[in-house]
Amino acid sequence: MRKPIIAGNWKMYKTAKEAKAFINESLPLMKNKDVDVVVFPPAIAIPAVAEALAGQELVKYGAQNVHWAAEGAYTGELSVGMLKDAGCAYALCGHSERRQYFGDTDDTVARRACAALAGGIIPVICVGESLEQREQGIALSVLAEQLAGSVAGIPAGQAENIVIAYEPVWAIGTGKTATAADAQEVIGFLRKELGKLFSDAVAEKIRILYGGSVKPGNIQELMSQLDIDGALVGGASLEAVSFADIVNYSNK
Ligand code: PGA
Repeated sequence: MRKPIIAGNWKMYKTAKEAKAFINESLPLMKNKDVDVVVFPPAIAIPAVAEALAGQELVKYGAQNVHWAAEGAYTGELSVGMLKDAGCAYALCGHSERRQYFGDTDDTVARRACAALAGGIIPVICVGESLEQREQGIALSVLAEQLAGSVAGIPAGQAENIVIAYEPVWAIGTGKTATAADAQEVIGFLRKELGKLFSDAVAEKIRILYGGSVKPGNIQELMSQLDIDGALVGGASLEAVSFADIVNYSNK
C-alpha cells in the first residue's frame, strides 16, 4: 500500500514569522493520520517551521530545491548536507517554475534528485506538459521523455523511495485542474513508464502525486483515483484552513 502524501509548496510566499503562524494555526486542524503531510517553505523560513513543528510526527518539511554538489561555488544554492542539518526530509526537484524561469533541465533535475536520494532526502521529482504540448497531442510522449531524463541515474534498488509529482503546467495557479480522470490517465501512464525504467514491482511502490489547482473541493475526487497517491498543492496550501481541509480529505 502506498501511503498518500499531501504536500504544500509555498513557493516565494511567507516570511519566517508568517510560516510559524501558519504551522501554529494549521497543526490542530489536521486530523488525518493516514497521510504523510509535508510543507515546502522558502528556505529562509525552514528553521522557523522546524521549531514550530518540533515534538510532532504528522507534518514533515522540505526544501523547494537542492543542489547536487556537497559544497562549492554555487551562489544561491543549497546542498543536501545543509538540508539534512536543517531537518528536511524532502526536497522538490525540477518544479516547473524552476524549469521555466531558472534553467532546470531533465539532466540537472536528475542530478539534484540523485544527490538528494543518496543523502537520505526524499526527492519529489516534478514533471508536466505545457498547454501547447497538450494541444498538439504530444503530452504523453513529452512526459515519458521528461520522466526518463529526470530519474536518470536513480539506482533501481532505491527508486521506490522517490516521489513523482505530475503537474500539468497549464493547471498551475490557473484554477484549471485536470479532471480527475485525465490526471488518473496520465499518472497511470507514468507508473507504466516507471515500470519500464525500473521494474513493475518498484513502480507499484512509487508514490505519484497530482499538482495544479488542487483545492478542498476537488481533492476527494482526485484521491479516489487508482494511481493518484496524493497532491502537491500551491495556492491552497498557503491558508491554514484550506490546507488542513485538503489534508483531511478522507474525513469529509
Ligand atoms: P497551484 O500550484 O496549486 O497553485 O496550482 C501547484 C504547484 O505549483 O505545485
